[in-house]
Amino acid sequence: MSVPDTMKAQVFYEPEKMELETKPVPEIGPEEVLVKVHATGICGSDVAYYFGKSSVGTESGKGPLVLGHELSGTIVKMGAVAEEKGGFSIGDPVVVNPVQSDVNSPWTQKGKSNVDLGTVVGVSVDGGFAEYCASHWFWTVPVPKTLDLTLAASTEPLACGLYAVRNLNIEKGQFVTIFGPGPIGIMMVQMAKIYGAGKVCLVGTRDERLNVGKEVGADFVVNTKDTSSPNYVEDLAGFIMDNNGGELADRSIAATSALAAINQSVATAGKSSTIVIFGLPGDDDVHSFPAMECMLNDKTIRYSWLAPDTWPEAVDLIATGKVVVEPVQSFHFGIDNLSESIRKVRDREDNAIKPMMINE
Ligand SMILES: NC(=O)c1ccc[n+]([C@@H]2O[C@H](COP(=O)([O-])OP(=O)(O)OC[C@H]3O[C@@H](n4cnc5c(N)ncnc54)[C@H](OP(=O)(O)O)[C@@H]3O)[C@@H](O)[C@H]2O)c1
Repeated sequence: MSVPDTMKAQVFYEPEKMELETKPVPEIGPEEVLVKVHATGICGSDVAYYFGKSSVGTESGKGPLVLGHELSGTIVKMGAVAEEKGGFSIGDPVVVNPVQSDVNSPWTQKGKSNVDLGTVVGVSVDGGFAEYCASHWFWTVPVPKTLDLTLAASTEPLACGLYAVRNLNIEKGQFVTIFGPGPIGIMMVQMAKIYGAGKVCLVGTRDERLNVGKEVGADFVVNTKDTSSPNYVEDLAGFIMDNNGGELADRSIAATSALAAINQSVATAGKSSTIVIFGLPGDDDVHSFPAMECMLNDKTIRYSWLAPDTWPEAVDLIATGKVVVEPVQSFHFGIDNLSESIRKVRDREDNAIKPMMINE
């Protein structure tokens, strides 16, 4: 397959300064494959990098850097080791796990690459808001040829959400509350059901997003902010007890970094419950919980970070349609409209949950 020498890429330099440039197609090392990017989704962290709310993961904490870590595409070139070990053929459809930890590190060997981060595509090295992207063969995941590559590009957030749902250890029929109707919270609604939840209650602050959650299977949606909403509930604990046989939630996930939601996720979970904190804290955030109340109710509070071992299952959930991702993919845009689309996500314009860049 012929690969051109140059490509279009969106190069981030500093907050609110990103240029559409023609630059060389990435050189690949022996362990890498070159992926012709089909689709790349905008993540909340791309928005944070773009607006300077968080530093990129380069040594200097600055650009130039091609952002984008939720991508799909096809293999167009392979390094010698990648060809020998990866089992890929040119033209194979793949998704890229951006968290490309050292394959030989003891933590990766133990299946816990999430606690020993190395290179992160689109965060510390060039990523997917371009026409081509390099990826280590080990972290390049094949997808079925029949799978629409635009849908496949949501594998990364889905894989992270799946790890969190697995960490909930849901027992059949349990009442699960999910705080934060972002793209991941909406996908978690579906996964909680697959993992045995009896009823799922999605809690948020704006109806447009909650309605998408309802569309994909939330039994209840609750708006805790907008008093004019038909979904507004003042007493969330009371609402849950009314719908869970007099008990608070059995399982609860905070899929937002909002401290109010994290506190509520613990407060509205009941006896013998498990609470998973998924929303990324700010650098100075401190989580504190009422200890005696947690102790006497035998609550388990745990964190969930990235997706160390959930990629193949995440691909399967999309490919089989068990988790539908179209409703969160908001709208499609071309590479020249990236900055505008990032702004729309920040401003929640056009119900921009997760817009997808599609290369022609
Ligand atoms: N742990 C991990 O491995 C991992 C991986 C990826 C992402 N994350 C984090 O996971 C979170 C979810 O990701 P996402 O992309 O779905 O985020 P998102 O688009 O920011 O969605 C979060 C949603 O939560 C809502 N929210 C704010 N305060 C709330 C409250 N008090 N109660 C209920 N909902 C509230 C927000 O409402 P508004 O629309 O009104 O702002 C927003 O719609 C983010 O914090 C992200 O950084 C964690």
